[in-house]
Amino acid sequence: MANPNVLILGAPGAGKGTQSSRIVEEFGVEHVTTGDALRANKDMDIGHLDTEYDTPRAYMEAGELVPDEVVNEIVKTALQEADGYVLDGYPRNPAQAEYLDEITDLDVVLHLDVAKEELVDRLTGRRVCDECGTNYHVEYDQPEEEGVCDECGGELIQRDDDTEETVRERLNVYEDNTVPVIEQYEGDDEFVRVDGERAPDAVWEDVRDAIAEKA
Ligand code: AP5
Repeated sequence: MANPNVLILGAPGAGKGTQSSRIVEEFGVEHVTTGDALRANKDMDIGHLDTEYDTPRAYMEAGELVPDEVVNEIVKTALQEADGYVLDGYPRNPAQAEYLDEITDLDVVLHLDVAKEELVDRLTGRRVCDECGTNYHVEYDQPEEEGVCDECGGELIQRDDDTEETVRERLNVYEDNTVPVIEQYEGDDEFVRVDGERAPDAVWEDVRDAIAEKA
């Protein structure tokens, strides 16, 4: 059986990155994440596209979406190279969803559903390893030694866009742009809603079962 093509949807902080890591380990697929790809290229000059800002960094620090031309190209290349994937952070608006539909077929569409105030709490408390990207939380998921990654010994930092003001803007952008995308997928055979407000292990049981059943 071919490796599954999984789309994971949800608000910022819903746990997409957390569950995607487990999906990669269990199902042997690639993690295609536009957020990480953009962070790795945040100072790329995109001024020639006649955009509002000249770099992805400026959009991300404002909590706004990076222009579709930039993100669509990243996703197309990554999906072409992957033998099965979990796609995380894309599509974020109806135009991106239309583009995705043209370039690939999805086996499972997961929606991690979490209430807004819980999202603010999770994101402002998130700490990320500077070296390997592992996620922690100041209350719910602490490392053994404060400020140090259990996996690789790297330094734990707060992402530039995890300040409360930017988090609230990201959630507004999500409501306006991405909620309509989720509504489009609802009702499709591939679509599964998962209650994301439980502990990561409980969420994972539903995520794993949904992929095993649909793929
Ligand atoms: P991106 O990096 O994609 O961020 P995001 O979607 O805002 O999502 P996050 O990574 O913040 O959250 P997550 O759902 O992965 O949660 P996590 O597992 O870390 O995008 C950043 C920016 O890039 C965007 O604002 C935009 O500018 C740009 N961009 C990206 N894609 C784009 C696109 N397609 N088009 C245009 N622009 C784009 O969990 C969060 C925290 O909660 C962690 O601390 C974790 O430990 C904790 N946690 C996780 N699960 C649980 C649980 N079950 N219970 C308790 N705590 C939990």
